[in-house]
Amino acid sequence: MKAIDNILTRNSPIKLIKPFPDQKQMEIIYKAAFRAPDHAWLRPSRFIQISGDGINKLSEIFYSYCKNNIKNISEEKLKKYKNAPFRAPMIIVLISNITEHPSVPEHEQMFSTAAAAQNILLALHALNFGGIWRTGIFAMNPDIERALGLNKNQKILGYLYVGTPTGKIKKIPSVEIKKFVTKLD
Ligand SMILES: Cc1cc2nc3c(=O)[nH]c(=O)nc-3n(C[C@H](O)[C@H](O)[C@H](O)COP(=O)(O)O)c2cc1C
Repeated sequence: MKAIDNILTRNSPIKLIKPFPDQKQMEIIYKAAFRAPDHAWLRPSRFIQISGDGINKLSEIFYSYCKNNIKNISEEKLKKYKNAPFRAPMIIVLISNITEHPSVPEHEQMFSTAAAAQNILLALHALNFGGIWRTGIFAMNPDIERALGLNKNQKILGYLYVGTPTGKIKKIPSVEIKKFVTKLD
């Protein structure tokens, strides 16, 4: 597929199943991630790749966070959060490792990881896989970060749910570009 068509046809699939990318494909996907713009080449992005029993472990982390931190949570909600990681066979946790730098503020380092996330989504699509970026209460959450063994300067920007798209394919909405672009000629 032409690069531009890959960009124009990427979407977030409704359902993701096995197979997920093998390690050789993941190498390519991470290389794509590290082609994101990166001020001063600080390399702020980190990833935790979760599959197999790791999905159970993440589910346990989500469950105990909710049980211990959300007052009066209903059993139904608790079950929903516990089951969340099972919505894809692989999850990539998006992390920004923030370092002090005289000209690269924290937000720029997070922007770089966000750009890396989009490169991952595009690489997945190019390799006939799919990904969905999800955040919710488990992103930018110091308790979850600690439970995943991260340091205080490492922030979770979200979770990329990864797998093979199945079922109904979402129609890509058309966008009236002129509504969003002004010109200064
Ligand atoms: C930073 C960020 C966080 C998101 N968090 C969620 C989320 O928690 N749950 C969700 O269903 N979609 C979330 N989305 C949106 C989906 O990833 C997706 O972009 C959206 O469903 C639109 O589909 P499309 O990518 O096919 O246009 C998030 C997107 C971004 C950029």
